[in-house]
Amino acid sequence: MKQKKKSTKIGRNDACPCGSGKKYKNCCMGRSTPPPESLQKSYQKRYNIRLKSATDVEKIRAAGELVLATFAEVEKVLGPGLVTDEINTIVHDFTIRHGATPAPLNYRGFPKSVCVSINDVICHGIPGPRVLQDGDIVNVDITSILDGYYADANKTFFIGTPSDDARKIVNVARTCLKEGLAMVRPGNCIGDIGWAIQQYAESQNCSVVREFVGHGVGFQFHEAPQVPHFGRRNTGVPLVPGMVFTVEPMINLGRHQLRILEDKWTAVTADGSLSAQFEQTLLVTEDGYESLTPFAL
Ligand code: MF3
Ligand code: CO
Ligand code: CO
Repeated sequence: MKQKKKSTKIGRNDACPCGSGKKYKNCCMGRSTPPPESLQKSYQKRYNIRLKSATDVEKIRAAGELVLATFAEVEKVLGPGLVTDEINTIVHDFTIRHGATPAPLNYRGFPKSVCVSINDVICHGIPGPRVLQDGDIVNVDITSILDGYYADANKTFFIGTPSDDARKIVNVARTCLKEGLAMVRPGNCIGDIGWAIQQYAESQNCSVVREFVGHGVGFQFHEAPQVPHFGRRNTGVPLVPGMVFTVEPMINLGRHQLRILEDKWTAVTADGSLSAQFEQTLLVTEDGYESLTPFAL
């Protein structure tokens, strides 16, 4: 297609927008579509990013459907009085019954099949004897491996009647994911996602966790690139079709600092404030994105 706006015209000696690292004139200039194979090679070489083929995407989408079906099982029983280990049992058994594997189990020594993070727990909460109480907020983070492919998603739920603070942090975290997703399209870059999230979170006097980031996903649990939920516009890897990564902002009602508990996993807010998170697995398409773990935000 012909460039319409002069202001966005790419010079023949500029870097090619396909991300190859070559000059535009020696790469995509005059081509109607960029050559997928060279794009694949250049993303591998420059960024260690493995772009996904249509067949790969189908498999990740199927893993994503299983993740969503697993959420539906959990949501049936979620409420005051539920023991977090029961969430683990549901996720574990449902995943196995569908011929899949829960990715967290034994991942870098993680002892359970799902992460369950309550109130001031930012992420990586380990299911156990803790009982959900009226007024709690709880994040459930599910990652399934189906036919060798990974999909990763999480949601934060209210247990019983939420406090005003609980409502606020969950709604801000939900909107942060929406704002991040709105930036996902070719022509934008990784930094635009974090920029949009940070802008919104801080406009609401909330803070963005720095230590944990979104990530490439599909062939493995955590692949390149890293997707920070804070940062500057127009920085980082240019987004191109075939990239699959998560966006999963962790948003605190107070300050962003965290500490890790003795169990070496559980991350909690340093100031004890509430923290909430939503996560989806996204595919960059020609004109935007497709969620491979779609749920309403
Ligand atoms: N699901 C988390 C993420 O979104 C990672 C959990 S790692 C685990 O990246 F070992 F705690 F499961
Ligand atoms: Co993730
Ligand atoms: Co996750």
